[in-house]
Amino acid sequence: MKKIAVLGYGNIGSGVVEVIRRNQDIIAKRVGEAVEVKYVLDLRDFPGDPMEHKVVHDIGTIVNDPEIEIICETMGGNEPAFTFSKKALEQGKSVCTSNKELVANHGPELLELAAKNHCNYMFEASVGGGIPIIRPMNTALAPEKMEAITGILNGTTNYMLTEMEQKGTAYEDVLRQAQELGYAERNPEADVEGYDAGRKIAILCSLMAGKNVKYEDVYTEGITKLTAADFKYANKLNMSIKLLAMGKLAGADENGEETYVAMVAPCMLAASHPLSTVNEVFNAIFVKGNLLGETMYYGKGAGKLPTASAVVSDVIDCARHKGETMPCLWKNENVKMADMMDTRKRFFFRIKLEDAAKAADLFGSLARVDAGVTGECGYLTEMMTERTFAEKQKEVAMLGRIRVEA
Ligand code: HSE
Repeated sequence: MKKIAVLGYGNIGSGVVEVIRRNQDIIAKRVGEAVEVKYVLDLRDFPGDPMEHKVVHDIGTIVNDPEIEIICETMGGNEPAFTFSKKALEQGKSVCTSNKELVANHGPELLELAAKNHCNYMFEASVGGGIPIIRPMNTALAPEKMEAITGILNGTTNYMLTEMEQKGTAYEDVLRQAQELGYAERNPEADVEGYDAGRKIAILCSLMAGKNVKYEDVYTEGITKLTAADFKYANKLNMSIKLLAMGKLAGADENGEETYVAMVAPCMLAASHPLSTVNEVFNAIFVKGNLLGETMYYGKGAGKLPTASAVVSDVIDCARHKGETMPCLWKNENVKMADMMDTRKRFFFRIKLEDAAKAADLFGSLARVDAGVTGECGYLTEMMTERTFAEKQKEVAMLGRIRVEA
């Protein structure tokens, strides 16, 4: 019998207990023995809950119990999750986490600690909820030089944008629905401001580069400035608006060292783009390899059982590799970042009708878009650098602007 512990009995932690209970026979076959949750760590008690008698309040009970081999960290946040994870790894207990904040902040350090103690720090559930993406990057894509990642990495905002686009639901209402469905972060600012997607693309870019991409170096813009008018223009252009997370190999510096660039921002996508049909809580991720070309991963990016299933997939892997550290592409060295202002795109912007002549002078070549919004019009620019667009943006009062992905 494999005995495990779950840290944090919230949405995902209770999901881990449920996945292990509901699929116990399948999991036992795949591990070679039954898996049992021996402890649940939480500050609260859960009277009447089937796990009531397994609840403990002291991490020491878990990390000092020689029977416990694997710990699921589903607490979220940096502390005390960081301290508890270190304590577990120091005792040679593998840690399987859904905590993208901790992975983005301290991933390489915890991976090194796991290797030193012949165990594993696993984070499949930290990106894309139930979508297998960490394991494919670490194993199936290992022969490739990964060059670019583009994805929809936040279920809450994708759910919100889909509802706003298809049903015209108001921002506040649709955010509340996403919270009720268990998709949103405790503080939804992390979702709507793009910080959650920023952490996830930092993790994926770190795997792509094999070095640490800090999430502070990811240029991040959320969805809070989008309005109903933006969706009218997108509809007119036969495009959708998605919060995209992107990272790519940008080139090399003067010493030949590779440089990377990463960003999160709302983008207009043509209806023919595969990501434009990724709706509701679903996430999708493209990874481009130099020889393989593009691969795409798709599934539920948030929610209790999909995310918990990803945590349990790591538990099974750890159980199958007792005493052995599985390879991870992400090493504890910092990557060199390029300046995102040098990246090139097309842009959509909206201005008041009285500024139309000025915009035409400023940009030269523009394609006008009329979506029947009183007193204003929209334009699509040609390809230009972020820097050029930002300089022109200072010269004319824009009502809004969105990047356009081909
Ligand atoms: N709040 C996150 C999302 C949860 O909506 O994608 C999964 O990481």
